[in-house]
Amino acid sequence: MLAQTTDAEINQIVDRLTLEEKVYLVIGTGMDIPGMTEESNAPQAVVGTTKDKVAGAAGTSYTNKNFGFPAVVFADGPAGIRISPVREEFPDETFYATAFPTATSLSSTWNVELAKEIGSAFGREGKEYGVDFLLAPALNIHRHPLGGRNFEYYSEDPVLAGKITAAFVNGVQAEGIGATIKHFVANNSETNRTELNTVVSQRALREIYLKGFEIAVEESNPWAIMSSYNKINGTYASENEELLNNLLREEWGYEGFVMTDWFAGKDPVAQMRAGNDLLMPGTNQQATAIIKAVNNGELPEEILDRNVSNILKQYYKTPSFKKYKPTGKPDLEGHKKIARKAASEGMVLLKNIDQTLPLDQNVKVALFGVTSVETISGGTGSGDVNKAYMVSVTEGFENAGFELDGDLVSKYESYVKEERAKIPPKEMFFEKDILVPEKTWTAGELETIAENNDVAVFTFGRTSGEFQDRVVEGDFELSEEELQVIRNISNAFRSKNKKFVVLLNIGGVIETQSWKDAADAILLSWQPGQEAGNAIADVVSGKLNPSGKLPVTFPVSINDVASGKNFPGTVLDTTAPKSQNPLAGVPSEEIYEEGIYVGYRYFDSFDVKTSFPFGFGLSYTNFEFSDLKVNRDGKEITLELSVRNSGETAGKEVVQLYVKSPEGSLDKPEKELKAFAKTKNLNSGETENITLAVNAEDLAYYDPATNSWKLDAGNYRFIIAGDSQTLKLEEELFLEEKEVKTTQDLFNPEIAIEELTRN
Ligand code: BGC
Repeated sequence: MLAQTTDAEINQIVDRLTLEEKVYLVIGTGMDIPGMTEESNAPQAVVGTTKDKVAGAAGTSYTNKNFGFPAVVFADGPAGIRISPVREEFPDETFYATAFPTATSLSSTWNVELAKEIGSAFGREGKEYGVDFLLAPALNIHRHPLGGRNFEYYSEDPVLAGKITAAFVNGVQAEGIGATIKHFVANNSETNRTELNTVVSQRALREIYLKGFEIAVEESNPWAIMSSYNKINGTYASENEELLNNLLREEWGYEGFVMTDWFAGKDPVAQMRAGNDLLMPGTNQQATAIIKAVNNGELPEEILDRNVSNILKQYYKTPSFKKYKPTGKPDLEGHKKIARKAASEGMVLLKNIDQTLPLDQNVKVALFGVTSVETISGGTGSGDVNKAYMVSVTEGFENAGFELDGDLVSKYESYVKEERAKIPPKEMFFEKDILVPEKTWTAGELETIAENNDVAVFTFGRTSGEFQDRVVEGDFELSEEELQVIRNISNAFRSKNKKFVVLLNIGGVIETQSWKDAADAILLSWQPGQEAGNAIADVVSGKLNPSGKLPVTFPVSINDVASGKNFPGTVLDTTAPKSQNPLAGVPSEEIYEEGIYVGYRYFDSFDVKTSFPFGFGLSYTNFEFSDLKVNRDGKEITLELSVRNSGETAGKEVVQLYVKSPEGSLDKPEKELKAFAKTKNLNSGETENITLAVNAEDLAYYDPATNSWKLDAGNYRFIIAGDSQTLKLEEELFLEEKEVKTTQDLFNPEIAIEELTRN
């Protein structure tokens, strides 16, 4: 193999490659889909593959003996390294990976140092298991609560999503493997995902959907980007020259390579032209089509050269190219600890009347809920992880030394066993998990349980995954059994002056308004990975003080969500025949009529009541914010303030900076998150001085009429807040009118979108 790695040398190598050799660099070696038959029309794996280099990885590149290029391995995903736990060549060893907390849980920490630490753990684990590119992190916007993959994504806000992504990517890449940020872009629903046309305004794209990617590219330079399945204003992301060349390369100066999502897009030649360098997982048909197009002059060979060179520049940095010999033995013990720590820090205390939590060590706990037994680590599909074990809530409480009502525990265990046996096993790994229906209790039974215990804890859960969005009934909304159990436990315990705690083991937003009054405390644990039970017990017992904040709004009703008007899109031809392939969708269109009013930008601007606002989260202690000073030095605006732990218990606090811009010719949201920081663990009485910095440019809005980012003249309000609706401190600063940056005129929607406005 040539040892050279400079750009010039890579270009020389490209010059010496044959057409066929180039083509086998721009496609992967294919993929078998377990459970998928040939009749179901799934693309088949190509012959002569090296795809089993790491069993269970999502993709592999071709080797090239002439140049000594080894195969490079691509593995998911956002919650851990998704590979097979067994390998034929090592029958006596296992390769279980750590199931880390899901992305939404990680973003709830609002802790960029922690995101970096988690990224490093992914990087080390991937490297020792033979992975060159991690297919994560994923940072699509939580546009609607029912998005089936929201658990894999960070937030409804692009600044939070972008900053957490950048930190995570920096952590992964510091360990010597590549990160792949995905899915680029506006892939916010799963229904018909490969046939979906996302119709979105230039402004909403730039300010909401692209912003997080822009931050991540600028602050972490990911080695790879995965384009998304959907079309954007009529053109598939992977065939979209405006997206991949004009914006990503020309405007943002991106230097890595772009790969498709698995089997995404339709036209390999258009993908090559658009700058989608690598087609994954790769099919023979694609190779044939590209060779033909070059031979007949339809595709200039220089385009292929450019793509190959983009890919090779990154491949040369990989462990495989550097001949690193993976040990197969990452520090799983160490990663377990990091996973537990991050899981606890991502938990959000939504309610806590009269210090219901933390629970006293010597209370007797009646632990309810099928999810206390079958606790959920994460979602399904490519975001799943083959983990060695799962700590349930029951086990976590026992490990923490709580005395549980043993009779109740056994009743749940046998109920779950019986019900689970009735549910047929999944045929394909990416099918949604089916949860055991909630167990109900009679008033008489609950009366006795309340008599025999000091406190009730009820866990319930949700799961979702690829290919499907969530539904309202029994998913966003609670099932009748769940509501009944909540009301009845609450009545039984409260009538004896005993407390009732609800634990939410969910991947995305649910309805909370109608039942939250019945609980004395609500702890949102999200889907916290394999250490779930231990991490939950750490918070419930007070070993750790919760410091998570919501990265997404919890609405009162699903009907209050602005994007609900057209989520998850409209089928374009309802009479079109459906493919036999269960993964294929039908042509559909999703018009983003809410424009920039996503999440809190909508609720706060239109005064729509929420159940829990964006940024919300309680602590076992209190914090005081004081001494806000705003300084401007050229472009940079810095804010200094003090945060003091004024309560009894040590804890961390998140400082959230929102900016309200002055009115101008275009509609603007009430306020927008522009920066955030997390304090260290402050002891009672301790103070930390926090500095936040933003550029005047970060405050700009995008004007599609002039294709530029602009600042209006006027007073900008800098709001330090506890959540998007709780102002703590504020200062004003006058900024001049300014055109901050001009851009190309890209992504013109093919139809006029009637966007929501405040006027
Ligand atoms: C998902 C990607 C994933 C890929 C490979 C696709 O179905 O959308 O996120 O990385 O599969 O597993």
